[in-house]
Amino acid sequence: MFRILSTASALPQCRKTNDDLSTFLDTSDEWISQRTGIRERAVCTNESLTELLSAAGRQALERAGLRADQLDLILCATIRGDYITPSQACIIQKELGASCPAMDISAACTGFMYALDVAAGYFARKKVRYVLVLAGDTMSRLVNWQDRSTCVLFGDAAGAVILGEGDALRSILLTADGNIDVLNVPHSGGNSPFDTLPQQESFLKMNGQEVYKFAVSSMCRDVKEACRQAEIEPEQLDWLVPHQANLRIIESAAHKLKIPMERCLTGIEHLGNSSAASIPVVLDQANTQGKLKKGDLLALTAFGAGLTTGAGVIEW
Ligand code: UT7
Repeated sequence: MFRILSTASALPQCRKTNDDLSTFLDTSDEWISQRTGIRERAVCTNESLTELLSAAGRQALERAGLRADQLDLILCATIRGDYITPSQACIIQKELGASCPAMDISAACTGFMYALDVAAGYFARKKVRYVLVLAGDTMSRLVNWQDRSTCVLFGDAAGAVILGEGDALRSILLTADGNIDVLNVPHSGGNSPFDTLPQQESFLKMNGQEVYKFAVSSMCRDVKEACRQAEIEPEQLDWLVPHQANLRIIESAAHKLKIPMERCLTGIEHLGNSSAASIPVVLDQANTQGKLKKGDLLALTAFGAGLTTGAGVIEW
């Protein structure tokens, strides 16, 4: 099916530490770092999501030694692109100067895994040779900065990978369990004089404890199943690459899977939860640091609003 030819990432310039947030919120570095492992996050000021994703996309192309016109498909995992329409993927297609089909994938923090699975289908049907998978969100523009229980958790980032033909994908699985209550971001309304639905603020709302329980149990279940389908034991994994939502979630899942933390890729300390971007960003950081060796077995695992989950085993 496919292999990963290159990785890339882009973060906004501005960094805000927990102490920075406690200057205007009733919170503390102690609370945030102890409960989540987050110490700082990158937040957009004058950058658009388009700028972050374009930078990641360009870097991914350069590193793969490809031109934009060689791409056969662009997939972009995002909760909210810069426009409701056209899709964020179409905007990036124009920015990069590509001419292939392009579409967004909406699966919140699991979006990157959903996009990989969609790409796998295109490779299986032999419709594509090169696919750009992007994932990015400007979560700082979706949270309510007066709600300390959510705004401190998130950060902004974009990640990208180029996929080419190969047999590195050993298994991939997705799940969805429709649920609006646990985690949602409503649309803000238009100005229809006929609309009688109540207006809602377009802020992220979350039941943190419910997500926490769901996250640990679904990651363990999914990684075990992805390993079973890849015909390996979780202990044989060289790297666990989890969605970066909370270090305690990662530690708890890794412990249950008997994977030592030295073999988990983490970046939450400096990123916060960057939604679907978190997996490709930590993957890119590990790749550029030379941590990943040819033949390494990686289990990617994510969960998010939907509620959705996804996991897969990839040989590096
Ligand atoms: O990508 C998926 C997105 N989401 C997640 O993965 C989130 C998963 N859930 C979590 O990570 C954790 O549930 C949180 C970090 C969100 C919260 O941790 P918790 O241990 O479940 O805390 P809590 O919600 O039970 O809150 C404990 C206390 C409360 O005060 P009281 O009622 O005990 O007096 C909160 O009001 O902490 C208070 N609190 C804060 N205090 C200082 C909530 N947010 C803050 C804050 N600073 N930022």
